[in-house]
Amino acid sequence: MKFITVDSYEKLSRQAANIIAAQVISKPKSILGLATGSSPIGTYKELAKKCDAGELDFSDVTSVNLDEYVGLPVENDQSYRYFMNTNLFEHINIDINRTNVPNGCAADLEKEGADYDALIESLGGIDLQLLGIGLDGHIGFNEPDDVFTKGTHVVTLDPSTIEANARFFASEDEVPRKAITMGMGAIMQAKKVLLIANGKNKKDIVMQSFYGPITPKVPASILQLHPDVTVIYSEN
Ligand code: GLP
Repeated sequence: MKFITVDSYEKLSRQAANIIAAQVISKPKSILGLATGSSPIGTYKELAKKCDAGELDFSDVTSVNLDEYVGLPVENDQSYRYFMNTNLFEHINIDINRTNVPNGCAADLEKEGADYDALIESLGGIDLQLLGIGLDGHIGFNEPDDVFTKGTHVVTLDPSTIEANARFFASEDEVPRKAITMGMGAIMQAKKVLLIANGKNKKDIVMQSFYGPITPKVPASILQLHPDVTVIYSEN
């Protein structure tokens, strides 16, 4: 594992974007695993800048996102599909038909999960998976549990996650209680993993995840078993 500490969110964002850019330059047909949340916003802005400057070409890239709230349609500005469109896809030259986000409104969510895993497999797996981390150690929406779940599945969000994500909604009541998330299988099979975290409040869970025991109670701790992980952390 490579653990990089930087002293600002801007540096974190630049470094993360450079790693993603290197991936896309070395393999234009990369399969990128992408994340939502506030942490990657700066990274996405940097990628858009590089694309604008003609330094980066996403036209052959395929993306697969980690997760989506259950029951939020694409047009809802809190859906993760909406987040990806507005924070990244509309600002780079990716083919929107090659961007994938689990469908949280699918009639049969179990089938949606199986189909999503089949899609990732058919793409040959993920080349680079970008991750944030929740305050409870969740990656994607893999919440603390008694087991690590392999496939894409529906989860009931932890009260602490609902509380943390309430800042994006008009009120806590509006935060969906369920989500569909890629499981640990596809994340662990990604060739490279890049986890970004910023803020003093994330320090403890980052340390627990990468230097504590490997346990499904701290979902991100499974990444200690991944052969190619880069963590970029900024206290600010
Ligand atoms: C969300 C997402 C995660 C994200 C995490 C942290 O609930 N499902 O993919 O990494 O919470 O979010 P933030 O970056 O806003 O702290």
